[in-house]
Amino acid sequence: MNKPDLCVAKNREKVDIKYINLDLNLKPVFKGKKYFLRTYGCQMNVHDSEEIKYYLEQLGFNSVDVLEDADIVVLNTCAIRENAKDKVFGYLGRCKHLKKTKKDLIICVCGCLVQQPSEVEEIIKNHKYIDIVIGTHNLSELPYKILQCSGKQEVDVYSNSDKVFENVKYSRDSKISAWINIQLGCDKFCTYCIVPFTRGRERSRKIEEILKEVKELKEKGYLEITLLGQNVNAYGKDLNLGYDFATLLEETAKIGIPRIRFVTSHPWNFTEKMIDVIAKYENIMPYIHLPIQSGSDEILKKMNRRYTISEYKKLFDSIKNKVPNVSITTDIIVGFPNETEEDFQKTLDIVNYCKFDGAYTFIFSKRVGTVASLMEDKISFEEKEKRLHKLNELVNKYSLESNQKYLNKIVEVLVIGTSDRGDNKVCGYTDTMKLVNIVGSKDLIGKIVKVKIIDAKSFSLDGEVI
Ligand code: 5AD
Ligand code: SF4
Repeated sequence: MNKPDLCVAKNREKVDIKYINLDLNLKPVFKGKKYFLRTYGCQMNVHDSEEIKYYLEQLGFNSVDVLEDADIVVLNTCAIRENAKDKVFGYLGRCKHLKKTKKDLIICVCGCLVQQPSEVEEIIKNHKYIDIVIGTHNLSELPYKILQCSGKQEVDVYSNSDKVFENVKYSRDSKISAWINIQLGCDKFCTYCIVPFTRGRERSRKIEEILKEVKELKEKGYLEITLLGQNVNAYGKDLNLGYDFATLLEETAKIGIPRIRFVTSHPWNFTEKMIDVIAKYENIMPYIHLPIQSGSDEILKKMNRRYTISEYKKLFDSIKNKVPNVSITTDIIVGFPNETEEDFQKTLDIVNYCKFDGAYTFIFSKRVGTVASLMEDKISFEEKEKRLHKLNELVNKYSLESNQKYLNKIVEVLVIGTSDRGDNKVCGYTDTMKLVNIVGSKDLIGKIVKVKIIDAKSFSLDGEVI
């Protein structure tokens, strides 16, 4: 058993990255059996779940939507905030109950939560009904763990990784829009964040492998790809091969897939060269998620974010000036340890300055093992909730204002599926990542259509095909 060790993760040395070409030969020995997969957290996890689905389907399992129908349950977990963890353990209660009547049920937990030593200890001690625990660094071993599953709990988690797997296969959720990993892990060590511990050191995939994947997806008819990494603008730095994210973005654009997106950008190291490439190519979408986290320089310093508010503003203005019609969203944390009323006011000030198209807002959550979890904090939770509420009101006001600018305009929408806003409606996204609900039939799915915007709300637009 490899128990995760946060101290090892903290002192991660720069070692040579090993590129491993996956060549798994799986047989459908579980034909007729069913799997239930539940995903928590960010896009990385959503994409990892597409890898898990591939393994399960290669082994012969079919997907079911009802937990009780499953022969194997896989929970792909998240550790970013305490509530993500609570949801997982809550759901495990249901799985445990089911196993009482379904003795052969295989329960598997993977993802970021089990990269935390304390959670693994908790599972070993109090959750013996879980059959397989597998971390983020060795997901490709999952099919073998399932094949060997004997009723004895198997825990296999590595604290760090020097590996990048190539030739990974996915059972993708969509035939229209695809995720592509370009970089794994994170070396930024923002003091509140658990990701550098759960996802390991920053390592980039080779450019030729990424471009090969883009070409394959284009040939399969995909209309959109999203390049994925914790810090896409750090792409290539670890390789020292003379190329960076701007190079990758430009080479990807030249392949000619209609829509290219990327997440997440860190404001640190976001170069003018990157902005110029985004502005130059029509198929690079004018949408940037640029987490700011706080409006106070003091708090940003305590967060180890490596930029000041004046640097963020300069970057923000440059993007707005150079990329026509760009939309910019952000992440903001309130209630970082000892955030003062003045610090919080500075966050409201920067929101008033940037008028973000949207913002994901969070109350600071203590993550064991991070530097911020050890910081003294005198601010009450009630005060933090009040700040969050105030921030959300402001953020929503600007989301609505930015959406209202679309009224009566004609935009191109990539239709991705049916809408939950009523029968005979489909939904999709503008180039600027605005969600649009459209009256129309399912035939529109998978097409880029011209739409007139007839109504604007804080989180979506309504439109009519013209
Ligand atoms: N508490 C609250 N929010 C957090 N995030 C990351 N770690 C924490 C934490 N400990 C937020 C950040 C990040 C987003 C993905 O989640 O805003 O950008
Ligand atoms: Fe977490 Fe900071 Fe890395 Fe983003 S950049 S994943 S917030 S440590």
